[in-house]
Amino acid sequence: MENKIKEALNEARQLLAGAKTSQQLEELRVRFLGRKGILTGFFKELGKIEKEKRPVIGKLLNETKATLEKELESALREIKKAESRREKLDVTLPGRKPFVGTLHPITKISREICAIFQRLGFDIVEGPEVELDYYNFEALNIPKEHPARDMQDTFYISDNVVLRTHTSPIQVRVMEKRKPPLRIIAPGKTYRRDSDLTHTPMFHQVEGLMVGENVSFGDLKGILTVFVHQMFGEDIGLRFRPSFFPFTEPSAEVDIQCVICKGSGCRVCSHTGWLEILGSGMVDPEVFKMVGYDPDEVTGFAFGMGIERIAMLKLGINDLRLFFDNDLRFLQQF
Ligand code: FA5
Ligand code: MG
Repeated sequence: MENKIKEALNEARQLLAGAKTSQQLEELRVRFLGRKGILTGFFKELGKIEKEKRPVIGKLLNETKATLEKELESALREIKKAESRREKLDVTLPGRKPFVGTLHPITKISREICAIFQRLGFDIVEGPEVELDYYNFEALNIPKEHPARDMQDTFYISDNVVLRTHTSPIQVRVMEKRKPPLRIIAPGKTYRRDSDLTHTPMFHQVEGLMVGENVSFGDLKGILTVFVHQMFGEDIGLRFRPSFFPFTEPSAEVDIQCVICKGSGCRVCSHTGWLEILGSGMVDPEVFKMVGYDPDEVTGFAFGMGIERIAMLKLGINDLRLFFDNDLRFLQQF
């Protein structure tokens, strides 16, 4: 009898291990514990056993029954869990698309600007954001203590190291390494102690430089006119306004007709009808001397524009700070 009980338990456990559905478990329960089940049968036979052995066998039988019930119960719980998980998965539901990031509007406009100049034969180059005072100022004809340094509020890292205030130091770095003729375009981040509606401490510029024999102010006007027309459309007017930069002579700033009011005057253009987009000029002979070019042999022009300014005009945005708030509702429109 004892052996039979143990064998029955072993058999039940084997079947239990193979059971995969709650229906199979129920069949198993009936087979061993049901009214006509194997263990139930043993209980009925207890009466036939010798009196002295009866308590021992009876105890074993009770324990076996309890064990099996417990194991059945926990197996049932596991299977129910798996079954309900399967039921919750509705394979007919439409899929959920993961959110895919997009390029920041500033990145897009920067690439668009560069692409226009690339088609005109300009190479893209880059330079460091943490820059030596020499490249940011001195080699651009702005000596220490020169009043022109007040034009740009500078973040100093140390006496001789600054966060570059414009992309113009890249001009110098390129000319030190390459021989003319050259045509380069250099986008990047720039930093100034500035903060209001149209100025942020970090902003982006694109620098342009073309050097060769007989590069003239006419070339500067031609190239920048093509750029404005490709960027803003053929019907947008532009004007060259005399200006001053220590590293160019003569210098000019370029204004375009306000894209918001088309020149009739509005808040964005302070009711002038015009908006400044860049500074430019013929490279000053002093700068050529610093990089070892002979100003009697080569001439060139340079320009630098604020990318945020171009992006505001192109996308019709009136507050520069929106570009840096990183509000997805704003960014996802582009
Ligand atoms: C310059 O930075 C000269 N390096 C440009 C240049 C290059 C002239 C080559 C001649 C030859 P300016 O300080 O004006 O110039 O800045 C150029 C443009 O940068 C401005 O027209 C404006 O669009 C943008 N800018 C300047 N400061 C900020 C600021 N704090 N936030 C956003 N944009 C700015
Ligand atoms: Mg300016």
